[in-house]
Amino acid sequence: MIVPNLKEAMKRSRENAKVQTINYILEENLKGIALGKHYFIKTYGCQMNEHDSENIKAILEELGFTEIDCMEEADFILLNTCAIRENAHNKVFGFLGRIKNIKEKRPDVIAGISGCMAQEEVVVNEILEKYNYIDLVFGTHNIHRLPQLIQSILNKRESQIEVFSKEGDIIENMPFKRDSKYKAWVNIMYGCDKFCTYCIVPYTRGKQRSRRKEAILSEVKSLKEQGYKEVTLLGQNVNAYGKDLEENYRMEDLLFDVSKTGIERIRFVTSHPWDFTDKMIDVISKCDNIMPYIHLPLQSGSNAILKRMGRRYTKEDYLNLFHKLKEKIPNVAITTDIIVGFPNETEEDFEETLQVVEMCKYDSAFTFIFSPRVGTPAANMEDTILKEVKEERLQRLNERINYYSKCANEAYKGKIVKVLIEGISEKDETKVMGYTETMKLVNVKADKEKIGSIINVKITDVKTWSMDGEEV
Ligand code: SAH
Ligand code: SF4
Ligand code: F3S
Repeated sequence: MIVPNLKEAMKRSRENAKVQTINYILEENLKGIALGKHYFIKTYGCQMNEHDSENIKAILEELGFTEIDCMEEADFILLNTCAIRENAHNKVFGFLGRIKNIKEKRPDVIAGISGCMAQEEVVVNEILEKYNYIDLVFGTHNIHRLPQLIQSILNKRESQIEVFSKEGDIIENMPFKRDSKYKAWVNIMYGCDKFCTYCIVPYTRGKQRSRRKEAILSEVKSLKEQGYKEVTLLGQNVNAYGKDLEENYRMEDLLFDVSKTGIERIRFVTSHPWDFTDKMIDVISKCDNIMPYIHLPLQSGSNAILKRMGRRYTKEDYLNLFHKLKEKIPNVAITTDIIVGFPNETEEDFEETLQVVEMCKYDSAFTFIFSPRVGTPAANMEDTILKEVKEERLQRLNERINYYSKCANEAYKGKIVKVLIEGISEKDETKVMGYTETMKLVNVKADKEKIGSIINVKITDVKTWSMDGEEV
């Protein structure tokens, strides 16, 4: 049993992580050990976790498992969890009750937990104490160990808890069962060294480690050959890509080289404003296949709060960058993340956030109430602001965000835009759906055969979160 250790997860040496790149190879004797068995996986959290689930699914299928939609019939149930806010935690602990019922009826079912919550010392202690029917816990640094862990459970019927707190190696050659045939996630870096004071991610995902450019470029080329139209380069702070590599090769160089592969659409998330360079802006503006869409988290519009959040920029720095992006990248759409109710956020602090929203008129935003995370500095900050006040602020903020989302969409009415058609519309089965270059969801009147193609669409109607259009 290897359990997570918060102190170990907090450690950062001044040196770059000594990452070894290891090639994942599944031993012959493990292939097919679970033939005939079914797995069910539920994924919480960000794109990185979604992509980890694609990795976990492919590994399970190499072992012989088949995916199933009905949890009650599965032989292996896995929750791939997120730790970012309290409600993410609560959802998982709520779900564990359902798994307990299933295990009471079918004790042979394997129940597992992975992802960011598995990296938390407090969570694993709670699982060991109160949820002893869980058979498997593994973390974000040892997904490649899944075949051996499953083998031990199947052979010995012993639970397996294996979570490494210190970030591991970079594992290449991992298999993925991708959710889409047209757009793909591509990891370019793991971990985060920013340590924003409210955030759990640097503890659950470890020190920043950038993947080698050769591995990234060959993955993108291979995706293009398989017919993929779009890649999203993934990392918690992609703009810091390469800072931990010996070679002088940074995000702008990577973006340029990925653009040269000729893949039709390139996106990247998430951008921390601190590391956004002018060179990056130049590359984005001159490469047509890098999409004019940037997610640029603000978090707060108050300099006092930004300082206590450890964000390393001021409101003025942020606005400068924002306006530069708008000026240099034609038609760019910019979205953001905002936290309200950070410890002792005053009414004036909050109003400064609203003022930035009025200035930036974001295309859309994710907004959150601050949630204290065990082990982070902000969890110990004094906070006298009432829950009701925080909720009221969130509502006021959302009202403005939604207003500007609708305004941004209004500007598209009557225009012709390019949409990558991904599938049947959820709202109307007679339509198809996809996203514009600027990441707007469009429900389109077009033939189903267009799924997988980029087509011209005339926007006929707009709402707050989506648009309607027809192929032209
Ligand atoms: N790496 C990304 C953010 C990842 S987490 C970045 O730096 O931009 C996604 C969002 O969750 C954050 O941008 C933040 O707005 C929110 N978030 C993170 N920790 C939080 C907490 N403790 N309480 C509330 N919201 C939080
Ligand atoms: Fe969390 Fe900040 Fe890192 Fe984003 S940059 S993952 S908010 S610590
Ligand atoms: Fe959640 Fe972990 Fe992503 S905490 S937001 S799943 S990095």
